[in-house]
Amino acid sequence: MKKIGVLTSGGDAPGMNAAIRAVVRTAVYKGMQVYGIRRGFNGLINGEIDQMDVKSVGEILHRGGTILNTARSDQFKTEQGMKKAVNVLKIFGIEGLVVIGGDGSFRGALDLSKRGIPTVGVPGTIDNDIACTEQTIGFDTAVNTVLEAINKIRDTVTSHERTNIIEVMGRHAGDIAIYTGIAGGAEGILIPEMPLDIDNLCRRIIEGRNRGKSSSIIILAEGAGKAMELERIIEEKTGMETRATVLGHIQRGGSPTAADIILASRMGYHAVELLQQNIGNRVVSIRGNRIVDNDIEEALTMPKKFNQELYDLAQVLSI
Ligand code: F6P
Repeated sequence: MKKIGVLTSGGDAPGMNAAIRAVVRTAVYKGMQVYGIRRGFNGLINGEIDQMDVKSVGEILHRGGTILNTARSDQFKTEQGMKKAVNVLKIFGIEGLVVIGGDGSFRGALDLSKRGIPTVGVPGTIDNDIACTEQTIGFDTAVNTVLEAINKIRDTVTSHERTNIIEVMGRHAGDIAIYTGIAGGAEGILIPEMPLDIDNLCRRIIEGRNRGKSSSIIILAEGAGKAMELERIIEEKTGMETRATVLGHIQRGGSPTAADIILASRMGYHAVELLQQNIGNRVVSIRGNRIVDNDIEEALTMPKKFNQELYDLAQVLSI
């Protein structure tokens, strides 16, 4: 393969730029031409494509977001959109593609692979919800961003002797909530993988107060409920002054951590190695600190393993 393309799709994640840089520089190193496709699959359909070189990915390693921009494309899901995309790739002579994004983006990558364009997915999402990989690009940075926020909220919550519900992202996964709950010493963690037991949570808050604990922080994964609703319920049931904080998109921004940059660099490199060997229809993953790859369909249907061990640890440490 001599000409490849790279795009970012779905929600942005810190470290996507490091992945783009790794794809571009690895391709150039291997004597391939590499094209950057703007605005995800929408840009592919519209032919928003420019050749990239070593210099075009300089000074981006520390930057959050994605220099290629990103989008969630409904057009690409249609037969007509897909045909247009394949046609554009043919016109530009692009033989293979790296798609950096989440599971929605990998469905697009699968469709392209089925239509004869070898496509490799690189998991970039803060949610850490891709079953085949132990970690996704952006997750570590998001966890650290949330942790910083928790620590700040802790200052005010202890001063006022309140309870604060902090709603974090994660879509249908509770990973951001569990990791930040443990790292931030939260008194409670509510995640979509476990039944929501508000009475149990309130009992724990009251028991804590009776032991002399004057404040509590509860981390709520967005897939498990709404912070504003819980604020009212918890205040009513515990009689303790309660506030809600929805962290929102702040979790998607900021400079990637070293861990995310290294993960993105390794994954981007591996994606190009696959394409160089004409191998497509794969998702790059990390397992046991080794970079491996999986069939896209397999990766999409694999059930995500719930980290019971971490959840149980959180329960023990939050008493
Ligand atoms: O998938 C990343 C994510 O940030 C989720 O955690 C969240 O549910 C969603 O994207 C928000 O999407 P948008 O930026 O389109 O509002």
